[in-house]
Amino acid sequence: MLSGDSSHVVVGVSGGIAAYKAVNVVRLLKKTGLDVWVVPTANALRMVGAATWEAVSGHPVYTDPFDGAEDVAHVLLGSKAKAFLLVPATANVIGKLANGIADDMLSTTVLSATCPIMVAPAMHHQMWTNPAVKDNISRLKKRGIHFIGPVSGELTSGDSGIGRLAEPEEIVDSFLSLLNSLDDYSLRGKHVVVTAGGTREPLDPVRFLGNYSSGRQGVEIARAAYLAGAEVTLVDVNLEVPAPAGVNLVKAHTALELQEVLNNLFQDLDILVMTAAVADYRPAIVADSKLKKSQNHLSQIELIENPDILAGLGKLPRENKILVGFAAETAGGQLGIEYARKKILEKQTDILVYNQVGHGRGFGEVTNHVCILDSDGSIMVESSGSKQDLAKLIISNIACFKK
Ligand code: CTP
Repeated sequence: MLSGDSSHVVVGVSGGIAAYKAVNVVRLLKKTGLDVWVVPTANALRMVGAATWEAVSGHPVYTDPFDGAEDVAHVLLGSKAKAFLLVPATANVIGKLANGIADDMLSTTVLSATCPIMVAPAMHHQMWTNPAVKDNISRLKKRGIHFIGPVSGELTSGDSGIGRLAEPEEIVDSFLSLLNSLDDYSLRGKHVVVTAGGTREPLDPVRFLGNYSSGRQGVEIARAAYLAGAEVTLVDVNLEVPAPAGVNLVKAHTALELQEVLNNLFQDLDILVMTAAVADYRPAIVADSKLKKSQNHLSQIELIENPDILAGLGKLPRENKILVGFAAETAGGQLGIEYARKKILEKQTDILVYNQVGHGRGFGEVTNHVCILDSDGSIMVESSGSKQDLAKLIISNIACFKK
């Protein structure tokens, strides 16, 4: 299960010109849902100011071990971290790390850290190939410190060679795999398909029948699954919130389109999380041109039933696949749970997440209350909180789920 601090990571930034690229690294890590704390050196702040680090990380930055001395901030930050990323790491900071020198906030924090450390060096190629630096690097590698880059390419001095910082996306991917290798709740090697949003059933070229689902909970589930190491395909069903980084995106607008997408994906998925709110009915006729009020076309709309996509998939042979349904109910309490249990039987889900919707609950909101039920209808866990935190809870329960 996820513990309270499982998403806390520290990014140390030293004073190389590539410090500006670390802004993007922090931004991308934040997008995956991690709680990122930045510790820049005084020289890093000459490249990128504290206000930028605070804005991208959402936390204050300390550069002096005497800042926040009452809380012993360097020990607290280092010891709470699940992993530490040094980006960019200059020859100087690598030298300090190799020799246990602790003379500023970054070097004291990294020395207090007991978690895995990843270093992304950036320096001129003559410094990188200097025997002193090579010696420091090999000592750090022997101590189990992970390295990403540097790569060959154009350097700030105008010439080129090895020493350039690896690309931010590459650094983030390596750091995430390091994180995922630590977790018991890892979904490494699994293909997770998440559907998120609400279907829109067209009536004519300008109107549709829809629902209030924004897709936020599904997007957070896709993000949490990616963070847990899965390959994630997010089926974007008219999403009103941005999709997370790192996932494959497929679009579907209507229930029939969603059914077709899932029929194509079903064979190759390990876990399906069906968060999308699907319209149970669609207009029997979709007009080619705008329906006119004057011609009384809109006072009655004939509807036909949509297929129950999840129930259909639930009937297929599924081997080790895990099917996760959602039950959106306006009913709360025991009645809501009873409706949810009925859906487990109808749809043959392995896990069903019941959440109450309507009247300022569920749809479109940032927070949610969920009750996670297994295939017997027993409550596995019940919790309230941000959709991001609940997504991690749902994903950790799926990862630990044994049929
Ligand atoms: N679902 C589906 N196909 C449908 C309707 C719903 O696959 N035509 C899926 C949803 O994605 C969700 C689960 O079934 O995972 C339950 O959806 P919900 O809207 O709560 O329930 P319904 O089955 O539509 O039943 P009701 O509207 O009576 O509550």
